Amino acid sequence: MGRLQDKVCIITGATGGQGQVAVELFAAEGAKIVASDLGDDGSSVLASTMKAHEGNVLYVPADVTVESDLQRIIKTTLDAFGRIDVLYNNHGAMVGAPFLSHTMEELDLVLNVNVRATFRLTQLAAQHMADQGDGGSIINISSTGGLVGFDSMAGYGASKAGVAQLARCLANDLKQHKIRVNSIAPGAIDTPMPLKYLENLDIAKDDFFKAVGDAHLVGRIGRSDEVVHLAVFLASDESSFTNGAVIPVDGGYTAV
Ligand SMILES: NC(=O)c1ccc[n+]([C@@H]2O[C@H](COP(=O)([O-])OP(=O)(O)OC[C@H]3O[C@@H](n4cnc5c(N)ncnc54)[C@H](O)[C@@H]3O)[C@@H](O)[C@H]2O)c1
Repeated sequence: MGRLQDKVCIITGATGGQGQVAVELFAAEGAKIVASDLGDDGSSVLASTMKAHEGNVLYVPADVTVESDLQRIIKTTLDAFGRIDVLYNNHGAMVGAPFLSHTMEELDLVLNVNVRATFRLTQLAAQHMADQGDGGSIINISSTGGLVGFDSMAGYGASKAGVAQLARCLANDLKQHKIRVNSIAPGAIDTPMPLKYLENLDIAKDDFFKAVGDAHLVGRIGRSDEVVHLAVFLASDESSFTNGAVIPVDGGYTAV
């Protein structure tokens, strides 16, 4: 028996660095998964997880900023597995931009992907969880960037603060349906996202990674599985008394 045996889980951002590890570890714990991300192709890690857990892991290409795509994620899940137990809002857009040159288009991107899509997909999934009547677990991926201030991260930071705050508010809103809502705030994790932050900034990559690693008390940046292990706990019944929490997984970054 896995810790997520037969729980029906939606995981977004599923071909990204953390997402593909999430699908792998959730599947290994017995979950039935609808994995979703931009694009048709998926990733090789996702493809091998789908092969190893044939029939229990499906992939839906979807842009989370498009209402019909969100509806398709929900419909595919219900058609395939008949219910929704867990929503793992892992999708995320990053913009690294100094505030004085931060464009409104960049702000709209991070707010739409990170906050608006999380709000709306949660609303759609929570409606089904409420109708099912036996609860559910929702996990929002925030960031240390949503807890403390960083250079050139005003839009992303504001959006990730919003994602964390959504967890606190929705834990209140959804309590009568026994739906728990929690948020994980990762520190720097070794995925394509930190490179996205550097894309438009004049900062040397090696210097950046050395300084960021040193700023975490454990002396390095994190691995995806170190975040996903907490998500497995939050998705499982082991976390039945954990609700409305925003939990850093940041090697001690925010303890300083
Ligand atoms: N890597 C880090 O240092 C770090 C730190 C803190 C928080 N996070 C958060 O962790 C989560 C996972 O990110 P990651 O580190 O795996 O980075 P990643 O860039 O590899 O993954 C992000 C995923 O989100 C998807 N996405 C972006 N826009 C989308 C859209 N419109 N529709 C559907 N999917 C979309 C991307 O395609 C990508 O697969 C994100 O929410 C991110 O903000 C990452």
